[in-house]
Amino acid sequence: MRTPIIAGNWKLNLTIAESRALASAIAKASPESGAEVIVAPVSLSLSAVAEAASGTPLKVAAQHTHAKDSGAFTGELSPALIQDAGASHCIVGHSERRSLFGETDAGVNEKVKALQAQGLIPIVCIGETLAQREAGDAISTVTAQVAAALEGVDVSKLVLAYEPVWAIGTGKTAAPADAQEVHAAIRAWLTEHHASLAQQVQILYGGSVKPANAAELLAQSDIDGALVGGASLKAETFIPIIEAAIAS
Ligand code: 13P
Repeated sequence: MRTPIIAGNWKLNLTIAESRALASAIAKASPESGAEVIVAPVSLSLSAVAEAASGTPLKVAAQHTHAKDSGAFTGELSPALIQDAGASHCIVGHSERRSLFGETDAGVNEKVKALQAQGLIPIVCIGETLAQREAGDAISTVTAQVAAALEGVDVSKLVLAYEPVWAIGTGKTAAPADAQEVHAAIRAWLTEHHASLAQQVQILYGGSVKPANAAELLAQSDIDGALVGGASLKAETFIPIIEAAIAS
């Protein structure tokens, strides 16, 4: 059985004090077992959130990293610093990074390797655009992204997150059966290329997950949790999603 993961991607939201307070509230609702809960604050809040999560089951993720640990990379942050700040995970290849900041499949692969070398768990995001879905290319797009991201990496030490671009921040959630179809295709790819690990890799769904649709999505056999944006910014909308995962 795969433990469900509920991860909150706070994107560019919340002050340091607000992040600390929200993390404390979420930590109180995070179980010791039955579900894993992660929050991803802005980089400047990582230390404060890690401090609030310390001694609780809540885990902390960065939203982005550079592949190199140091050097002339103005404005960047590194796997070593993310770990130093107290995080255990890092989101890689989010569609906003791909579309707004030029993140490529090759860059994602390099960052996954750098994070694993530092002992951090990458949360690797993949997902098709609306045009790709309408052209019938959703599964081929997503499996190509998975293949590129996972080239030469340790598949036992990462999490995948399927986030259809058209469902992010739009209020449009993939129908549970449509999401399941893509998750099953990702697992089929894993079975073909990493047979012994395919059943243990957690594949999260992301895109307008909220308390009203979480249980139905989490009930799908290949959906192992959720990567939540908007609904993760308030304890009253994020905690019910954690509770749905515990009950799933
Ligand atoms: P929303 O839940 O706001 O659609 O965001 C999803 C997301 O991008 C999480 O990484």
